Amino acid sequence: MCREDIKFFRNGLAELTPYIPGKPVEEVRRELGLTGRIVRLASNENPIGPSPKAVARMKNVLEEINLYPDGGCYELREALAGKHSLTPRHFILGNGVDNLIPLVVNTFVNSGDEVIIPAPTFAAYRTSTVVAGGIPVEVPLKDFHISVGDIYNAVGPKTKMIFICSPNNPTGTIVYEEDLKNLIDSLPPEVLVVMDEAYYEYVDDPRYPDSIEYLRENENVVVFRTFSKIYGLAGLRLGYGMARPDYVTQMEKIREPFAANRVVQAGALEALADNEFICQVKDVHQKGKQVICDGLVSLGINFVPTEANFIFADLGMDMKFLFPELLKRGVIIRPGSLWGYNTFARITIGTPDENQFFLEQLADVWKLFQQS
Ligand SMILES: Cc1ncc(COP(=O)(O)O)c(C=O)c1O
Repeated sequence: MCREDIKFFRNGLAELTPYIPGKPVEEVRRELGLTGRIVRLASNENPIGPSPKAVARMKNVLEEINLYPDGGCYELREALAGKHSLTPRHFILGNGVDNLIPLVVNTFVNSGDEVIIPAPTFAAYRTSTVVAGGIPVEVPLKDFHISVGDIYNAVGPKTKMIFICSPNNPTGTIVYEEDLKNLIDSLPPEVLVVMDEAYYEYVDDPRYPDSIEYLRENENVVVFRTFSKIYGLAGLRLGYGMARPDYVTQMEKIREPFAANRVVQAGALEALADNEFICQVKDVHQKGKQVICDGLVSLGINFVPTEANFIFADLGMDMKFLFPELLKRGVIIRPGSLWGYNTFARITIGTPDENQFFLEQLADVWKLFQQS
C-alpha cells in the first residue's frame, strides 16, 4: 500500500523530484536490445579513466577493506594542503561533492534562510536547501552565464548562502575574477559564498578566479573540488571542501564519520601526485573539445563556448525526438529538457574515437530528420 498523504513525509519533499542521472550503458543495452557499440557522453566523466598508479595502489588496499578508513583523512589533507598552499585544517573530505553540498547547507542554513541559486545549474543545491527548510531564490542565467550582478541584487536580509557553480553545469561557462571579487567585497558578512569548482582543472580562460585566495584572506567562501572529473575516480566517490578552519570545525561535527572510503583515499593520494597523467588527460580533452566544436560547426549547430569537459549545444530539434534516435544508434547524451532547454543537449567530451562516433551518429540523425 502506498501512503498518499505527503504530509507524513518531511516538509519540502513534495516540491522535489529525484535526480535524473545519465542513462547507464547497461540500461540502454537492456532496454533497446543493443548488441553493438554504445558510447556514453552523458555524465562528464573522464573517458580515459584514472591514473594507472592510482589503480595499482588501490588494488593493494583491497586486502585491507575489513578495516574502517581514516575518517579524518590525515594523509590526504596533508597532500591537499601542500598542493594548494593551505593548512590541513582548511580541508574536509566527503563521499563526492554530492555529499558535501548537503553538509555545507546543514552547517550554515537555518529554516527560513534564503539561498541564492543560479538557474539552471547543478540540481543538488536546490534539493539540499529545500530539505534543510531553506528558501531557494533562483536567479536566471544571462546569455548562459551566471549573472553576478543579478545575484547581488537578489541578496536581502534573509540571504545566508550563494551557490556559484563555475564552470557551470550544464552551460560550461565561468564566473570572471573581477565579478567574483566585486561580489565578495560587497556582500554583508553573514552571507557565505559556496564555489562549486568540480571542473576547475579543465579551465583555460585566464579570467578564471583563484578562489582559494579568498580562503587565505579568511573570507566567507567555501570551495568544492572533486576527484570524479579529471582524476577519473567518479565510481569511488571523493570530493573535498576548502574553508576557513573555524568553518571546517563546525562542518566536522555533522560529517559522516567515514565518508571517504579506504580505497579511494589511497587512490587519490597517487592520483594527486601523478601530474604527468593529468597532463595527458587534459591533452586528450583539449583535442577532443576542438574536434567536437569543429564537428558541430560543420553541421551548423550552435553551442555555448565551454570551459568544462562538456558542451551545451542547441541541436535545433526537440530532444523528445532526437534523444531516442541517438540512443538507438548507441549514443547517450544528456537532454537539455532536464534544465528547460528542449532543443539542447549536454555532451561530454570523450576519447577521439568516441567523439568521432558521436559526430557520425549525429550527422546521420540530422540527415534523417531533414529528409522527413
Ligand atoms: C557542478 C557539479 N558539482 C558536483 C558534482 C558531483 O561531484 P561528485 O562526483 O564529487 O559528487 C557534479 C557532477 O557531475 C557537478 O557537475
